[in-house]
Amino acid sequence: MSLSDVLAVWLCLLTVSQAYVEVYGCPATGYFGSNCSVPCPDVNCQYCHIKTGTCQGCKPGYKGHRCEITCERGTYGAGCKETCEHCRDVNQCSVNNGTCLTGCDAGFKGDLCKTACDRGSYGYDCKETCGHCRDRYPCSNIKGGV
Ligand SMILES: *[C@@H]1O[C@H](CO)[C@@H](O)[C@H](O)[C@H]1NC(C)=O
Ligand SMILES: *[C@@H]1O[C@H](CO)[C@@H](O)[C@H](O)[C@H]1NC(C)=O
Repeated sequence: MSLSDVLAVWLCLLTVSQAYVEVYGCPATGYFGSNCSVPCPDVNCQYCHIKTGTCQGCKPGYKGHRCEITCERGTYGAGCKETCEHCRDVNQCSVNNGTCLTGCDAGFKGDLCKTACDRGSYGYDCKETCGHCRDRYPCSNIKGGV
C-alpha cells in the first residue's frame, strides 16, 4: 500500500467515525458538544443533540420537550408509559423505576408490587399465613379468607 492509500483509508475511517457520532450522539448520556463534555442544558434530559443540545429523550420519570414535566403520580419510566399497580401509597411510587417506596398493598410483594403473595400467605408484606382453607376455596392473597 502506498502512503497515499494509507492516508485515504485513514481519512475515510475518520469521516465514518465522525458521521457515527453525529448520527448517534455522545456515548455518555446527558452530554453533548464536540468533546461530549458539556452537560445537556435540560437537567432531566438523557439524550441531547450533539451540536445544539436540544433534548431528544428524557430520563425515565420525565417528559415534555425539555423534560420539565415529572410523570403523573401512579406512572413511571421512559415517557411515563408504565403504571404503578399495587403500591400501599401510590404517591410513593418512584417515577424513575416504579419502586413502591413505602411497600405494597396487602396481597402483593416485590419492589414493583406486581407479584401476588405466594400461595398460602396473604396480607401486608405477605406476612400472614393462611389457615385451614378448604381445598376448593383458595386462600385469598389479600384477606386470607375466600
Ligand atoms: C475539548 O477538549 C479540549 C482539550 O481537552 C479543550 O481545550 C476544549 O475546551 C474542549 N472543548 C469543549 C467544547 O469542551
Ligand atoms: C428506584 O428509584 C428510587 C428513587 O426514585 C431509588 O431510591 C431506588 O434505589 C431505585 N431502585 C432501583 C432498583 O433502581
